[in-house]
Formats: sequence, structure tokens, C-alpha cells
Amino acid sequence: MIPLILVGGGGHCISCIDVIESIGRFEIIGILDLKEKLHSTVLNYKIVGDNEDINIYIPNGNNYFITIGHIKNPQLRILSFQTLKKNGAIVPSIISPLAYLSSYATLGEGSIIMHNAFVNAKSTIGINSIINTGAVIEHETSIGDHTHISTGAYVNGGCSVGDRVFIGSSAVIAHNLTITNDVVIGAGTVVIRSINEPGTYVGNPARKVS
Ligand SMILES: CC(C)(COP(=O)(O)OP(=O)(O)OC[C@H]1O[C@@H](n2cnc3c(N)ncnc32)[C@H](O)[C@@H]1OP(=O)(O)O)[C@@H](O)C(=O)NCCC(=O)NCCS
Repeated sequence: MIPLILVGGGGHCISCIDVIESIGRFEIIGILDLKEKLHSTVLNYKIVGDNEDINIYIPNGNNYFITIGHIKNPQLRILSFQTLKKNGAIVPSIISPLAYLSSYATLGEGSIIMHNAFVNAKSTIGINSIINTGAVIEHETSIGDHTHISTGAYVNGGCSVGDRVFIGSSAVIAHNLTITNDVVIGAGTVVIRSINEPGTYVGNPARKVS
């Protein structure tokens, strides 16, 4: 079993633990979160330190995985990922045994494919990204770095989704569209045209709200 430390002990961490346990290859040896949460538990695992303790643990040869959630702002996930990499940590990618990742698709370092998600052929997923429960990434679609495709969202074939993008639950991205960097797509939004300007988009068809 590979010793693994999780970074972030909130709601997304709970879902990640379930996926990680189901793989049967990693032994979660602790979670890093805020100082105030020290010694509390998430499912069966203890908060053993805060983010500053990353440096203490890395020389011990542990693997790390970022379990901080991302809705509007991915900055904490990005900062944690950069700190881990700067300190030479190994950050595996995680694939649920209940998900489908085509052998013609690629998955970046530190990204997770959660239960029942589907990633079809010739798609690429960047680094430190989340393909959440039941999300569908169709053929020849690229998903950038530090991007979160939420539960049950559909990104159809031939799309290009940028870096630091959030796509909400049950959103639908029609085929062959581009979504630029730093975009937030609300839950249930239907995107039928490419989005070339950063901001928040909601509704059917998608409109920019901020
Ligand atoms: C898009 C989102 C991030 C916007 O949050 P926000 O910046 O706080 O925006 P507000 O709640 O102030 O809403 C701004 C406007 O957009 C509308 N709006 C917000 N989210 C919407 C949505 N998903 N669908 C349709 N309209 C929406 C609001 O009604 C409001 O409209 P108004 O200005 O006409 O009154 C949030 O509403 C959302 O959809 N979050 C995704 C949740 C999710 O999928 N979680 C999955 C976790 S795995």
C-alpha cells in the first residue's frame, strides 16, 4: 500500500476518501487542514497537521493528494499543488474503479476521476483537476489544469475547456465549443456557444451574470 496524505478535510475530501479506499492501493495516513481542526477526524482519518506541515511530511516519501473543493475559486487548490511540487512531492492521479477512462484518453498529475464518471477516447484532462461523480467528458475534448467538472455535468465531443474553470452540476456544454480560462458555469446551465470571456455564466441558454 502506498502511504498517502490528503490536503483539505472538507466535503470534497469525504467523497475523495470513498474513491481512494475503493482503489485499494493507498493507505491514507492523515489529512492536513486548518490548525483549529487538528486531531478531529474525517470519516476514519485524523487531521494530523496544517498546510505548513507539508514540508515535514514530504521527506518521508509519502504521496499527497489535494482534497480541497473548488466552486468559484480554485486558488487554494492551485497554491497547495504548487507547494507540493516545489517540495518534490509525488502527487498521483486517482481513478475510481467505478469510472470509465478510455485507454485513448490522458489524465494529468493530481487529477481525480470520481465514481461513475466517463472520459471518452482522445480526451485529455489537465493537472490537479476534478472530474466529479457521474460527469461525462465525451470524445476529443480537452479539460485544462485546475478545472472542476461537477457532478453529472456533460461536456460533449470536441470541446476545449480552459484552466481554472468550474462547470456546475448537470450543466451541459454542447459539442465543439471552447470555454476560455477562469470561467464559472452555474449548475444546470446549458452552453450552446463558445465562451471567450472570463466570468460567471448561468441559465439556458447561458448568459453572463458577472
Ligand atoms: C453560478 C454560481 C456559482 C453563482 O453563484 P453567485 O456568484 O453567488 O451568484 P448569485 O447567487 O448572486 O446569482 C447571480 C444571478 O445568477 C442567477 N443564478 C445563479 N446560479 C444560477 C444557476 N445555476 N442557474 C440559473 N441562474 C442562476 C441568480 O438567480 C442571480 O440572478 P439575478 O441577478 O437575476 O437575481 C452558483 O449559483 C452555482 O450554480 N453554483 C454551482 C453549484 C454546484 O454545481 N455545485 C456542485 C458541487 S460538486
